[in-house]
Amino acid sequence: MNITTRLLATAVAFTGLYATAATTVEIDLSKKGAPIAPTMYGLFFEDINYAADGGLYAEKVKNRSFEFPEAFTGWTTAGNVELLDGGPFERNPHYVRLKPTGHPHKHTALENEGFFGVSFEKDAEYRFSVWARAVDSPAKIRVELTDPASDGETHVMAQQEIAVTSGEWKKYTTVLTPSETVVKGKLRVFLCRPESEVDLEHISLMPVDTWKGRENGLRADLAEALAETHPGVFRFPGGCIVEGTDLNTRYQWKNTVGPVENRPLNENRWHYTFTHRFYPDYYQSGGLGFFEFFQLCEDMGAAPLPVLSVGLACQYQNDADSCHVPVDSLGEYIADALDLIEFANGDTTTTWGKVRADMGHPAPFGLQYIGIGNEQWGDEFIVRLEQFVKAIRKQYPDIKIVGSSGPYPDGKDFDMLWGEMTRLGADLVDEHFYRPESWFLSSADRYDSYSRKGPKVFAGEYACHGNGKKRNHFNAALLEAAFMTGLERNADIVEMATYAPLFAHVEGWQWRPDMIWYDNLRSVKTSSYHVQKLYSDNKGTHTARLTVDGKPATGEGNGLYMSAVKDETDGSYIVKAVNVTDSSIAIDMKVKGLKKGKMPDTVTVTTLHADTDAENTLDRPDTVSPTVKRLAVDNAADWTTELPAKTFAIYRFSNNQ
Ligand code: AHR
Repeated sequence: MNITTRLLATAVAFTGLYATAATTVEIDLSKKGAPIAPTMYGLFFEDINYAADGGLYAEKVKNRSFEFPEAFTGWTTAGNVELLDGGPFERNPHYVRLKPTGHPHKHTALENEGFFGVSFEKDAEYRFSVWARAVDSPAKIRVELTDPASDGETHVMAQQEIAVTSGEWKKYTTVLTPSETVVKGKLRVFLCRPESEVDLEHISLMPVDTWKGRENGLRADLAEALAETHPGVFRFPGGCIVEGTDLNTRYQWKNTVGPVENRPLNENRWHYTFTHRFYPDYYQSGGLGFFEFFQLCEDMGAAPLPVLSVGLACQYQNDADSCHVPVDSLGEYIADALDLIEFANGDTTTTWGKVRADMGHPAPFGLQYIGIGNEQWGDEFIVRLEQFVKAIRKQYPDIKIVGSSGPYPDGKDFDMLWGEMTRLGADLVDEHFYRPESWFLSSADRYDSYSRKGPKVFAGEYACHGNGKKRNHFNAALLEAAFMTGLERNADIVEMATYAPLFAHVEGWQWRPDMIWYDNLRSVKTSSYHVQKLYSDNKGTHTARLTVDGKPATGEGNGLYMSAVKDETDGSYIVKAVNVTDSSIAIDMKVKGLKKGKMPDTVTVTTLHADTDAENTLDRPDTVSPTVKRLAVDNAADWTTELPAKTFAIYRFSNNQ
């Protein structure tokens, strides 16, 4: 049935013209299905929407090293502040000198506006640090967290003094504990009297309570939200930012490792990509760099999947060949890939393994996958990728290479790319689909007919961009859940899947929908987040055959999407069911192959249901959230249930109880 006929049939069913007799669903547990890859289900991180600086990275100071093209972006200066070059960090050479004003009532000071404000919470601890040196004689600075409140006065919520005693560059640290919570605060640094010149560089403010308490840390609530999804894979550092608007601004991982103070700034392409969401102060400090990404993967138990430039600048913005690296000059780019594998896995005697060890992680990170190129297309991609594949295979035959099928889920380019990925022997192909409702409704059978002989699938970027709304309303998440039954059923070929994008700051987003939203102090998990987590928490170990009238339940004609898995670790079987229609669906579940003598008598039903337009927000974070109940059943092999309209439900039986 073609897509149009199919959608028509589905539409007829949704209007309720079909009979409401129970739908018989058959599940066969007697045969073990395909193993579900441990990399299912995962996360895709990109520094878009202020996901890194201003987001997951806990730094509160914007432009902490004065390296933005306009050196005082984010800062206000007062009195006598001079910008100088040649500081202690070669790749971030700028620093400032605070000098006396020569007047008893004039102050020399710096004030930072943070990312959409410097926000802090009452009684929480914030670690201020600065590299400083006294110029001629010991100096003193005063650090304040302030509330430039609407009454026109600035209220100081915390302050500390630091004596800068040495004429050599040294790191100074103090902890500030605010007396009030402030969302749009500021950080101020004053030169104290008697004034004596002092040099300052890398001015930083981070919560003490970061994820895992690390000093160069991550925002705890955001990292925790990621970890709670138990991701199987974590792709980083992103999509288009890997490529850059031009080659100079591509993501270069080597610039993001080593001492944090010496990681050079990079332009973030998302600051100007959309002129309706224009953020000219959006840069990448590299503070959340490749070491931190690998560490996060390890903390979460996710397989790391770094993606590197293939030598093509973003193809959307660069038509001409001259914008890309010539095919015979890819040496540095290929070296970046090989060196990255060494950084992650090499022993500590290797050049890059030593860099990792010096950063505090002598043990390898266990990298198994590498992505080469983001959503590239055309012959220009193939000729370049081919060289990477040869080099990686030669040196690291066990590393799995992820190629691309371009930005669209079908079409001539897509077919060509899949053919070429197969010819080149890519292990996985990254597919992207930001599509409307109709696509999600009709694509649950997408992988049923894929060849089982070629590369595996990485559904690397997807989200239902609903009905022109492009918001995180419940209906979009429901349709994602429906589509994902097809990922699950095809576990023999779909090895990874990651919703995208992951993060968005409510004041700084460029792209929506996204999985997790936040302001500076609060965060909210969207309906799509809950769908991803529910799949991940209930992913099982093997597929189980589930059919309606002998066919997979792909929504055709009845709006019912289903899949089933077994979990060999606890003997449970798990059924996912999505009803996208406006009426409830009666289901008659016939289960074959249950272990004799161990029949369960209850089923745990986890349900996600809300008005289709409902959205979780910072103020109302739980409008859409899963509910759990236990249902008694007389016979686990033959039971009935009513799946409400517009509902995603997960039925979980333990066969061992
Ligand atoms: O996720 C946002 C963007 O979408 C990614 O950067 C890119 O890969 C895709 O076009």
